[in-house]
This record gives sequence, C-alpha cells and structure tokens, in this order.
Amino acid sequence: MDFGLKGKNILITGAAKGIGRKIALAAAAEGANIGLHYRESEAAALEAATEIRDYGVKVTLVKGDIARLKDVKQVKETLNQELGSIDFIVNNAGWAQMKSFFKYEPEEWKREVDICFYGIVNLAHTFMPDMISKNQGKFINIVGDSARTGDRNLIISAAARSGAISFLKSLAIEVGRNNVQCNTVSLGLIDQGDLGFSDVALDKLIKQYPLKRLGKADDVKGMVLFLLSNSADWITGQVISINGGHSMLG
Ligand SMILES: NC(=O)c1ccc[n+]([C@@H]2O[C@H](COP(=O)([O-])OP(=O)(O)OC[C@H]3O[C@@H](n4cnc5c(N)ncnc54)[C@H](OP(=O)(O)O)[C@@H]3O)[C@@H](O)[C@H]2O)c1
Repeated sequence: MDFGLKGKNILITGAAKGIGRKIALAAAAEGANIGLHYRESEAAALEAATEIRDYGVKVTLVKGDIARLKDVKQVKETLNQELGSIDFIVNNAGWAQMKSFFKYEPEEWKREVDICFYGIVNLAHTFMPDMISKNQGKFINIVGDSARTGDRNLIISAAARSGAISFLKSLAIEVGRNNVQCNTVSLGLIDQGDLGFSDVALDKLIKQYPLKRLGKADDVKGMVLFLLSNSADWITGQVISINGGHSMLG
C-alpha cells in the first residue's frame, strides 16, 4: 500500500524509544521527513535519527516538555527553520503512573494531567493553524484503552486522556472544513520487554486478551500510517483501538 507520505513533514513526539520510535522509522521508510521529538532520552533519539537518515529522508531532533507551551513553541520554531512547516503530527508522548488514586500526591496528579491532556492542547494550538492555512493536516493522539474503559490503577491518566479524546473530537468538528483530520489511537498493553510483571501475573493478563497475546510496537505502526495516509481522508473524530480484542466498544 502506498501511504502517500513521501516528502511530508511529520512530527512524532516521544519518538526516541518504544512505540514512537517504531512509528518514526515506519514513516521514514515511507519517505516522510521526521521531526523527532524527545524529552530526556537524548542518546536514544540520536540513535533513532541515524536509523531514520538511512532511509534517505530528513530528520530534525527537537527536545521539550509537551506540558509547557513555551517548549512546544520552541519546538515549532526549530522545525520551521530546519525541516519546514509540519504537515502531520503523531502525539505519542505520555506519562502514566500505575497506582491507586489514594497513593497519589497532588503534584503527581497535576503532572499527569499536564502531560496527557494539556500536552495535546499545546500541540494543537501551536501547530494546527499552519495545517488550517495549508488546507491539509492530520493530528493523531495515542492513548491507552483505559481512557475508554476506566482502570483503577491508571485513574488520572485515563481521565486526562478521556478528556483528550473529547478535545480531539470537538477539534475535528472545528477543523474539518479545513481538511484537517483528528483521530485517536487507543492501545491495549504493548509488551516491549520491560513490563516488570511476574510470569504468573503476565499469564493472567494474557488470558484477558481474546487474541491470547499482548501487543507489540509493530502492531501499532500500520494503523498510524493508514490514518496519516490519503486513504483516511474521510476519517475524523474517531477513536480506534489496537488492543487484541481486550475491550470491544461500540
Ligand atoms: N506501552 C503500552 O503498553 C501502552 C499502553 C497504552 C498506552 N500507551 C501509550 O502509548 C505511548 C507510547 O508508549 P511507550 O510505552 O512506547 O512509551 P512511554 O515510555 O510510555 O512514553 C513515550 C515517551 O513520552 C515521552 N514523554 C514523557 N513525558 C513527556 C513530556 N512531559 N514531554 C514530552 N515527552 C514526554 C518520553 O520521552 P523521553 O524518553 O525522551 O523523555 C517517553 O519516551 C505513550 O503515550 C503511552 O502512554 C502505551
């Protein structure tokens, strides 16, 4: 399938490692130029950038905290100077803590909301006006299925990301006339080898998945590329789960 991404400038946040890195490499393999955002993982970001350049595309490294509007504006300035204006965004950056609500300190819950909710508000407010004036753009936000189903151990990030889903739906209505599509990709548990569960706990978890395995980072990239492609030009305001059937929402 030709995703039509050749020459597009795509910003992928949190792309030094994990799922974000897989998406960045997959988009680069399709000929997209990559704005590779990271916050702390500089060495991994440099390594990912080298791999991306091997595809013969441009890559610009940008660093910042998406919860801080000032950082996001600086990211845009750097990208505009070094890569050109951004066509599409995949917001993959996130921060979620797994614990009971009653074990939280107030500054911890604020931080989670700042990243998982205000992070996408900051990105949309900063980057979307260029998409609107070009009459073309795509904005994808990645969340966990807990944002749709609830999860007692992800209580704050789930709530913040549920808000992010709602924000993106409303934005999809606002910018539809400008040919900008906004969608959410919602994930089940993706095993990247660092889950830290015992074998017994992992077995229990896997049993909850109709497809009888956890996800892999590679399971996510195809849907993201599709949503960035021309074939998804009439898809907006949607939430699409990649979750091995763990939850089946109508
Ligand atoms: N893995 C799963 O099972 C799973 C399930 C559901 C949802 N998700 C979501 O899918 C996305 C990717 O997951 P992942 O497991 O590959 O990676 P992850 O470790 O959860 O997060 C991805 C990146 O987000 C960046 N980040 C964190 N706080 C940030 C901030 N304030 N500003 C900017 N960047 C920030 C980090 O970049 P640096 O390392 O450079 O600091 C990190 O590498 C995340 O949003 C995650 O919550 C994952």
